[in-house]
Amino acid sequence: MNVITPGDRAPWRRLPMDQQPPWPDREALQRITDELALVPALVLAAECDRLRERLAEAAAGDAFVLQGGDCAETFDGVTPVRIAATLDTMRRMAQPLAEAAGRPVVHVGRIAGQYAKPRSSPAETRDGVTLPVYRGDIANDVAFTTAGRTPDPDRLRRAYHASLATLNLVRAMMPELYTSHEALVLPYEEALTRIDDATGRMYAASGHLLWIGERTRRLDGAHVAFAGDVANPVAVKLGPTSSAGDVLALLDRLDPERTPGRLTFITRMGANRIREVLPGLVRAVTASGARVLWLCDPMHGNTVTAPSGHKTRAVSEVLAEIEGFLEVHEALGTVAGGLHLELTGAEVTECVGGAVGLSDLGQRYESPCDPRLNRAQSIELATRVAALLEKRLAPPRRGELAAGVEV
Ligand code: PEP
Ligand code: CO
Repeated sequence: MNVITPGDRAPWRRLPMDQQPPWPDREALQRITDELALVPALVLAAECDRLRERLAEAAAGDAFVLQGGDCAETFDGVTPVRIAATLDTMRRMAQPLAEAAGRPVVHVGRIAGQYAKPRSSPAETRDGVTLPVYRGDIANDVAFTTAGRTPDPDRLRRAYHASLATLNLVRAMMPELYTSHEALVLPYEEALTRIDDATGRMYAASGHLLWIGERTRRLDGAHVAFAGDVANPVAVKLGPTSSAGDVLALLDRLDPERTPGRLTFITRMGANRIREVLPGLVRAVTASGARVLWLCDPMHGNTVTAPSGHKTRAVSEVLAEIEGFLEVHEALGTVAGGLHLELTGAEVTECVGGAVGLSDLGQRYESPCDPRLNRAQSIELATRVAALLEKRLAPPRRGELAAGVEV
């Protein structure tokens, strides 16, 4: 894919750009993004197109998407052992899901680029000291020191190289996995856009599927404009305050041509809100004649603070939101297209519950941001979701594709 000259890549720069790290050294930012504009693409246009086709299949009810990985990848976390464990966990989850759904699973990782985090507050105070909040390894360090928390543009370069190293392992270990991340830090995403020689279309070359987060999906903002300009499949997170009007406007902005597989809505309502909020959004999209892919993120609407002070989520709430998601789509006759989960193959102690009754979060809490399901909790969840799917599916479909995990 061709590189784009800097002058060509700026239309969204003038729009409100929420959640950007406050880079103190703008010259360094410019220098590094100029460098990144010349590096090899991480993913190819044809791979992004292939994923769009797979997502179209999922939207039509002919495949089931399992999107999962860390809330925030870290540079230190780029190790073969850790990556292999997460990929293996996703593979094990896919087996019961494919069997129960009678559909092949499309694997999408929150991986090889998930380094940027939106935050609810720009600063953090500990023991009377206030510093900038951690915004992901692409921006600053989790260490609570002035040096650590100062955004450093060199981290954009490190994020590219960490993504490249991760992708190298992913391509060897699980060639059918597609990559995804939140397109948050736009100077990075912009620097990694490339023009496809064959079609002349612009692609984000930083990952196959990019999503816009709940905090940056404003219609007049730079993030939506950027996503509208790239040819990759794109997704938008929808929280409980989303309106039918928001969703229809996003549909027109991001998928004006109604290209199958182009647009995914990832709903993250909370177990206690999903039955009330989701039907109106799904009805509005269906009535517009559009077909999008609906995924359930049962993590971000169910985050609570444990008495120990750790952010956590209960496996029972995660399952309850998925059950609500399946029920709503069944009632409306629409397709529950898959799951979006924060998980890891490591035996961390970040989410509570599951068969082993995990409750002591202090033992091994490693996430620098949101709590992830550990390996056992992830596999157990997949088995329980498979049981829910089996209960719902008409008998002739069930088992049709018993060996349906795509390889
Ligand atoms: C995330 O997926 O880590 C995230 C921040 O999600 P949301 O935008 O839905 O809050
Ligand atoms: Co998260």
